[in-house]
Amino acid sequence: MSTALSIQEVTDAQLARYAKLIYERTGIHVSPQKKTLLSNRLRRRLRATGIDSYEIYFKHLQGLAPNDAEWDAFLQEITTHETYLFRDMAQWDWFRDVFLKDIASVARAGKRPKTLRIWSAACSTGDEPHTIACCIADRITDASRWQIEILGTDIGTGAVAHARMAEFGQRAMHLVPDGYRRRFFSKARDETLWSAKEQLRSWTRFELHNLLEPLNEQPFDLVFLKNVLIYFDSQSKQRVIDNIRRVLAPKAYLVTSAAEGVANLLKDMEHLSGWLHRTGKSQSA
Ligand SMILES: C[S@@+](CC[C@H](N)C(=O)[O-])C[C@H]1O[C@@H](n2cnc3c(N)ncnc32)[C@H](O)[C@@H]1O
Repeated sequence: MSTALSIQEVTDAQLARYAKLIYERTGIHVSPQKKTLLSNRLRRRLRATGIDSYEIYFKHLQGLAPNDAEWDAFLQEITTHETYLFRDMAQWDWFRDVFLKDIASVARAGKRPKTLRIWSAACSTGDEPHTIACCIADRITDASRWQIEILGTDIGTGAVAHARMAEFGQRAMHLVPDGYRRRFFSKARDETLWSAKEQLRSWTRFELHNLLEPLNEQPFDLVFLKNVLIYFDSQSKQRVIDNIRRVLAPKAYLVTSAAEGVANLLKDMEHLSGWLHRTGKSQSA
């Protein structure tokens, strides 16, 4: 690494090429107003890699695989991983007190199998999947007799590796009710980290996945898609929604953030609130 590199100013044409690469690979639209931000972030990667030319770094990036550490470091500069457990509490109240309560009683009556598949799309460091697992552990009292699968995916290799560790700091844990903390987490390596207990870990699985690509999985009963499409243009949003639709079971739910901006792409779904959608009768998995 060198701090004495002489890096020339990035040109508009170079920035446009970087923006195109970001868009093609991730769906994220970097607006021309973000030019200064993008050039500052690029400069940081040039310094870190010791590469002194935007052209050479661009060519280097183009050749990198999605799981390459430098590609991930570059992605980190342009994406936000902001997340925490129990983000948007009203959604978790619905999940626990309506969704889980309903499926548990229907399963008890023998009217549905004791299986549950949930996908947390763009899960960042795994806070959302672990929130899902906490609620299930609380509300499905005979969970050991269920087949439960919670898939968390993200485009960031570092984020997925972090999610697999299932350890959370105070900030990530700040909304976790005390009772849940005690039941489902233990203090990890040092006093500042909470480690998910085995029950939560046994249900969660984390994979690297780009939402622009189809996901090769069995249908899900519920998909969470939150705080990821804000910087996508309508074409990329459409691609993501089409990919998600393919893995929604009939009568499955889709939970978005209120700001996701996808309501107009979900016309064939039933809208139960600004963030809760359900596949229609005619939709097949
Ligand atoms: C702000 S976090 C959202 C985390 C969580 N869903 C929440 O709401 O708390 C956004 C995540 O989207 C991921 N992301 C961005 N573009 C993506 C893409 N094309 N495919 C999959 N994940 C993507 C980023 O890596 C980041 O971890």
